[in-house]
Amino acid sequence: MPMERTKEMTSVGADWDKFYTAEISSKLPFFSREGRLYDCLFAQQLTRELLKQLFKTADTLRAVTQKKAGADFVSGLLSHKRGMLYFVQPSTRTFLSFLNACHILGVKTSEIRDTSTSSEVKGETPEDTVRTFSSYVDLIIMRHPAPGFVEKAAWLMNRTGRPVPIINGGSGKDQHPTQALLDMYTLYRSFNGEPDGKKIVMVGDLKRGRTVRSLSYLMKNYKNVNLAFVSPKEFKMEPDILEFLNKHSIPYTETEDFSSVMREADAIYMTRIQDEHDKAGESKKVDYSPYYFKKEHLKIIKKSCVIMHPLPRRHEIEPEVDTDPRAMYWRQERNGMWARAALISHIFGVDLKIKP
Ligand code: CP
Repeated sequence: MPMERTKEMTSVGADWDKFYTAEISSKLPFFSREGRLYDCLFAQQLTRELLKQLFKTADTLRAVTQKKAGADFVSGLLSHKRGMLYFVQPSTRTFLSFLNACHILGVKTSEIRDTSTSSEVKGETPEDTVRTFSSYVDLIIMRHPAPGFVEKAAWLMNRTGRPVPIINGGSGKDQHPTQALLDMYTLYRSFNGEPDGKKIVMVGDLKRGRTVRSLSYLMKNYKNVNLAFVSPKEFKMEPDILEFLNKHSIPYTETEDFSSVMREADAIYMTRIQDEHDKAGESKKVDYSPYYFKKEHLKIIKKSCVIMHPLPRRHEIEPEVDTDPRAMYWRQERNGMWARAALISHIFGVDLKIKP
């Protein structure tokens, strides 16, 4: 892939602190090449048109790979590429789905999942560590606990002579764009199209949940979507997301009362308490029990309502709900692998070769 340095890259991207605090719209060209995503860092990069294209690719991938000939063809598309999975924050789904997405496309993979096994224990900075990966691989997929670090890594990489694309697999409390991608893919498949006119209810620790933040950003792409945020008062959605919704004229309501919005929901998106972000055990003081989807609620919600959860779950959905056809969370996991394979194929420009 040609790595031409665009005018935007040099003018916007000279100073990290200025760059980091700049309007997101001014940064986007820095992370794109030739009309394609190069780095996937923010949900705001995912437009309606791009999402539709990625969903089409994901659908085609899952169909053609059912047969050996199709799977062999697809696994040859990127067999000349190598990818690094740098996941220094725990993960099951994002890690495994990206790993398998790479394998579907033939990308050979290496991984670091713990900084204690890398030269960071000898004092190497995370920035130098990421730069080192680019000596060996053509793609870096990373999950990092520090907000903004994935973006900084992409910014740094784009200023070197050997940039490689970076995909954000979850950064701090702020963003999880590929979770938003697979969540929207799940809604798209469930609704047989875009979620225009739908009511989407997000439930739980909305303050510290990066999945609900990233999914909220995607709503700008759709018409007449209505959001309801259900949370304990301690974990309400952050003002920056509410400002974003206001700016894009997306209506939302906030409540602590889950039962008040259940009946009218077209999708219910449950989330767990994010107590890994506690500073002094504050989660223990919050009564999270009302933010629990029980078997008895299946009688109340619409017949067409989909129940989602980014997982892992603790006590947000009663396991008896799992067998109801409206429970989408296990399919949601699997959708992640296909959506992420579609994204990687897009970044490397081979998506148009994937045909039914
Ligand atoms: N949904 C999600 O990000 O799951 P993991 O933390 O297991 O990757």
